[in-house]
Amino acid sequence: MSSVSTITQELEKLGLQQPKSVKESFPNYNIIDVFRNYIADELNRISEVDKDTIYQALDNTKTLDQGDVIIPIPKLKLKGINPNEKSKEWAEKFDKGKFISEIKSQGVFLQFFFNKHVLFDLTINDVLKRKQDYGYLPLGEGKKVIVEFSSPNIAKPFHAGHLRSTIIGGFISNLYEKIGWEVKRFNYLGDWGKQFGLLAVGFEKYGSEEQLAKDPINHLFEVYVKINNDVRNETSETIGESGEFDASEQDEKKIQSSTNEEARQFFRRMEDGDESALKIWKRFRDLSIERYIDTYARLNIQYDVYSGESQVPHETMKNATKQFEEKGLIHVDRGAKLIDLTKFNKKLGKALVEKSDGTSLYLTRDVGEAMKRYETYKFDKMIYVVASQQDLHCAQFFEILKQMGLEWANNLEHINFGMVQGMSTRKGNVVFLDNILQETKEKMHEVMKKNEEKYKQIEEPDKIADLIGISAVMIQDFQSKRILNYEFKWDRMTSFEGDTGPYLQYAHSRLCSVQRKSNISEEELESANFDLLVEPCASNLIRTIAQYPDVIKKTTKNMEASTIVTYLFNLTHIVSQCYDILWVAGQEKDIAIARLALYASAKQVLNNGMKLLGLTPVERM
Ligand code: ARG
Repeated sequence: MSSVSTITQELEKLGLQQPKSVKESFPNYNIIDVFRNYIADELNRISEVDKDTIYQALDNTKTLDQGDVIIPIPKLKLKGINPNEKSKEWAEKFDKGKFISEIKSQGVFLQFFFNKHVLFDLTINDVLKRKQDYGYLPLGEGKKVIVEFSSPNIAKPFHAGHLRSTIIGGFISNLYEKIGWEVKRFNYLGDWGKQFGLLAVGFEKYGSEEQLAKDPINHLFEVYVKINNDVRNETSETIGESGEFDASEQDEKKIQSSTNEEARQFFRRMEDGDESALKIWKRFRDLSIERYIDTYARLNIQYDVYSGESQVPHETMKNATKQFEEKGLIHVDRGAKLIDLTKFNKKLGKALVEKSDGTSLYLTRDVGEAMKRYETYKFDKMIYVVASQQDLHCAQFFEILKQMGLEWANNLEHINFGMVQGMSTRKGNVVFLDNILQETKEKMHEVMKKNEEKYKQIEEPDKIADLIGISAVMIQDFQSKRILNYEFKWDRMTSFEGDTGPYLQYAHSRLCSVQRKSNISEEELESANFDLLVEPCASNLIRTIAQYPDVIKKTTKNMEASTIVTYLFNLTHIVSQCYDILWVAGQEKDIAIARLALYASAKQVLNNGMKLLGLTPVERM
């Protein structure tokens, strides 16, 4: 990231100095902070209220007739003053300088109106210079975060929970990168447990090398279903199909069948490090990962590490259990070891940490894996993007790590989310991420075909349908707060009308087309004269563009993609209002240039926001 601030340079060109910086403000990256700092500085001079307090009290307004920013005087918490009088007094004394064009006292409020020329000049030049880096804030420089997300189980369905984890996790990783953190993306596969014994036995019976090479993920699942059926037929009991945790953690005594016994023995061999058993398992794993890599790429996700439950060293887990035993925190129940977490937090209950046969559990594997990750990466923070069904599970292993006296356990964060209802399709074959994306693409294709005229003009309809389809799924997911459940609605999400993914793509491609058709070069935009942008809708738009770094900052606090999505829809609505008034085509050159510079910066912000969410903005559709 360039350290020389373009904003300071732009200010100098305007004959202005960067106002003194208030704590936690980023005037080198956030234009509104330049104005806020000026106001804080000046108001501090006349009121003697400290600058930080003033800065914190400055709010954005809903509409521009109330000013660009506003201070509710009571927010300054001054004793023994009359806020109405103070507001009047300060408005009179305030030196507007070149930054502020107007200050109004309105009851207990002080309203500040930015100098439009300065705002336009700084914002547009900054956006067009920084391009994809516009929105960056140096909040996490030098810090490292691990984000674990998606984490499907090999040979089991990729369900809606995994889909949500994938797209939310992808977004969170991008966001951390945007604010300067070094991000390590982890996929923690469900790739261990007795189901792999079962899978190996099943593969001998039903497997096909050819199929495995062609479509490992679906083939392994087929084999797994078949062999599970065999077990079911051999016994009256079924192996738990909960899908969340592996079958090896079910009560094994109930499941007596020869196939099952074979599977158990195979897994035992894996646990004991038997090379021939591990070789088979590794091939299943490697081939699956190969395929995952391609599918995640469609969502613009690249993992740094494909970890998994299989990768947790036995030693780490054993050591952990031992530590607890030494502290007297473990009690044994019918040969199994339990740790009583109610001592630390009533809600956490008692957790099983070792089964009677000495094999590990989902919970202990998480403990061991976290320790291994800390040793390897010395992260400053680690985030688990996992469905809220596993709230208790996460809280338990976080607490276990804390009770082991590991300082860094305080830097673990569980980012949870609600459920999706009704993610089934006409074919009913939505089992893996690939299928989901395929289905969305087909659906999108159908919607696109309805507009024959337009459809004919699209060069690569298949690719465009894929990208827009993905946007439809992602925007639907990102529209409300993470924790809420939502219903998967094909028609609604693939519509071009209303606040949908396809609409956002349409808005982006339209901005691209305005620029394409204008025949104005990027160099010409540098000479734009912003005094020609006098219409109120232009002021609305520039203000929204300038707010983007603030929106990023807010999002880093609530970790809600919906904050970005809401902002982007607002931006596109304002842009579409501008289209009615601010024409580019057929205008005099200097007017066309100024307007196009405004649209070009709107496009850049929309592009940045969409990419931050994980979408691929399309240029034509
Ligand atoms: N594979 C698990 C499942 O499908 C999710 C793993 C979540 N991450 C973790 N560290 N436990 O339920």
